[in-house]
Amino acid sequence: MILDRNENKDVAVLLGAGSMGMAILRRVAAGKKILLGGRRQNSLDKAAESLRYSGYDVETFVVDAVDHVQVRAFAEKAASLGPIKIFIDTAGASPSQASPEEIIRLDLIGTAYALDIFGEVMAPGGAGVIISSMTGYMPHHLTPEDENALALTSTEKLAELDCLRDEKITNSGIAYIVSKRCNHLRVRTAAATTWAERGARINSISPGIIVTPLAYDEFNAPGTTYQSMIDTCAVKRAGTSDEIAAAGAYLLGPDAGFVTGTDLLIDGGTIAALKSGLFNLRAR
Ligand SMILES: NC(=O)c1ccc[n+]([C@@H]2O[C@H](COP(=O)([O-])OP(=O)(O)OC[C@H]3O[C@@H](n4cnc5c(N)ncnc54)[C@H](O)[C@@H]3O)[C@@H](O)[C@H]2O)c1
Repeated sequence: MILDRNENKDVAVLLGAGSMGMAILRRVAAGKKILLGGRRQNSLDKAAESLRYSGYDVETFVVDAVDHVQVRAFAEKAASLGPIKIFIDTAGASPSQASPEEIIRLDLIGTAYALDIFGEVMAPGGAGVIISSMTGYMPHHLTPEDENALALTSTEKLAELDCLRDEKITNSGIAYIVSKRCNHLRVRTAAATTWAERGARINSISPGIIVTPLAYDEFNAPGTTYQSMIDTCAVKRAGTSDEIAAAGAYLLGPDAGFVTGTDLLIDGGTIAALKSGLFNLRAR
């Protein structure tokens, strides 16, 4: 049976088909052609099937977000399907899942490449959302000069920056904080340059503790401060992917037509509690 007679549909792209990405997609991709990207075909097949059984039109593409050649091929595939109006990047690894080097390669450099590459193919009027993290608001060693370099250095040269040397990135927690802070800075620059030239908008969301498989890996890791964050934050609970999806739909939709280059912190008040001295981050 033909469920959709439309041709030449707008395209919605998700890189990293995890919990938050899928939740955002469900809010914004009805009537569009979806391209799902992720590392493993079997996970992509499961995600695609759940979308198809809910009425979405989906294709999949195996892509490792740390490999910019693969990300470029993914973007070319997306562009071949039609005008790309939506780009969502949720590919990421958390501190308990990966080494400092892996986090820098995926969360920082991989995201920077994705911003560059999709900044070349977005359709006019399109919009993107990168999932960063509230950790981008946590204390770090970056000076204003370091931040300027992280914002403006070409992506191929990011790995050479002094602030990303092994002596500075001494553990996965620091790698994650710096990577997510860098996401904010790269989104700001991309919004003003490459994405602006395409007539497209780009923003990031910085979630607090959101219950997903990735978060469960963190809950189970030794020495985390998750319980104190939940206990001291204003809303006294963890968040859900659907709450992030509501914000994603806003940023990707027409009500946010004047919003670009910014980050939306959605953390139930955790950073407010940290900055008000209600809990301390333990060294990880
Ligand atoms: N869950 C939280 O509490 C939380 C809080 C703040 C930020 N984040 C960030 O949100 C994003 C989404 O995480 P989530 O919580 O939805 O978890 P998730 O595990 O459901 O999603 C992460 C997705 O990224 C994919 N991925 C990982 N490495 C990849 C690679 N190299 N190439 C392609 N895909 C890759 C995973 O397969 C998975 O589908 C991540 O960037 C994470 O750092 C999560």
